[in-house]
Amino acid sequence: MTAEVSTYSREYILGRIQSLTGLWFVLFLCEHLFTNSQVALFFADDQMWFVRSVNFLHSLPYLQVIEIVLLGVPILFHAVLGIRIAITGKSIYASGDGTKPIIKSGRNRAFRWQKITAFILLIGIIAHVVNMRFMHYPTTTSYGSTHYYFTKVPIFSKLYSLSERLNVTLYSKVDLANVGTELKKVQAKIFELNKKEKQLYIEEEKYGAYMDEMNHLQKLLGSYKKKAALYQGLSDYQLNSDQVVVVADNTGTLMLINVASCFRSSINCILYTIFVASAAFHAFNGLGAAAMSWGILIRKSAQIKWFSICIGLMLLIGALGLMAIWGSYIYHYI
Ligand code: HEM
Repeated sequence: MTAEVSTYSREYILGRIQSLTGLWFVLFLCEHLFTNSQVALFFADDQMWFVRSVNFLHSLPYLQVIEIVLLGVPILFHAVLGIRIAITGKSIYASGDGTKPIIKSGRNRAFRWQKITAFILLIGIIAHVVNMRFMHYPTTTSYGSTHYYFTKVPIFSKLYSLSERLNVTLYSKVDLANVGTELKKVQAKIFELNKKEKQLYIEEEKYGAYMDEMNHLQKLLGSYKKKAALYQGLSDYQLNSDQVVVVADNTGTLMLINVASCFRSSINCILYTIFVASAAFHAFNGLGAAAMSWGILIRKSAQIKWFSICIGLMLLIGALGLMAIWGSYIYHYI
């Protein structure tokens, strides 16, 4: 008897965690696809909403902690518990013993799709995060309030007009050939100027008459340090002849170029369409079922209304994702 109660409690708690992390995933998906849909507004009308939204997110303090604690951990929990349900076949939505709501055949079909889309998402999210968050994630170097952001992209036909629209600089393999040597020269110059600055400080303290010279020296030193930051960032990249490094003064602009680069390929667009459709279905079918698994909606008419709302949201959020994908694709071919 005791064993039965504790088993039920464990299953129940795991089910609640699965449900809550799923609800969190729904919120993230709404925010993420809303932000990404704004890419299409740039291509259609030069609107910088996407760049501003990404820059806002990147200005948050402790961003990496937020990403791990508020995103990585909940998604991991949800995925691990989901795989467990898929393997053991234990649905948290329907047990038939009266402890959980019984779901009719239409819902069972939806539950089967919930599992299918879960596997698509598992592969999709890993590939997507590796691609956008790690492989093509901008690197950065700074000097004072000057920040340089770098990303490597293949050359595509609209890249030059896009870089003009976004006011970014492109460096080719040829441009980077001497960057290591230039960096060494600049570093040597900084060393020399630093020495001069120290000397000038001592003399200034003694005679108090070197203010102008000191100002000039510090300006010169600043401009060399900025150059060094730029060359340092560039020197980390190895390019093929069909690639360039894009340099911007903010992350959002480079994310936009990365998205544009990704969606110039029709295969990527089709794979992303399946990914976004699966995410929208999984999130909002899950949201529909959650209201029942929490026992919030008992009456059948209320359940039907709630599912209609969820289907509406599914279509809306899915459409926002498709806007980002196909809005970018169309840009390459008009
Ligand atoms: C329209 C399609 C999508 C586009 C254009 C897109 C774009 C991006 C970009 C640019 C990033 C890097 C963001 C940053 O670090 O600032 C990113 C990260 C991420 N995306 Fe997407 N995404 C799309 C769809 C999805 C979908 C459907 C999901 C979930 C199922 C998803 C989950 C994630 C996750 C978990 C991250 C890592 C978040 C982070 O570490 O900040 N994305 N995506």
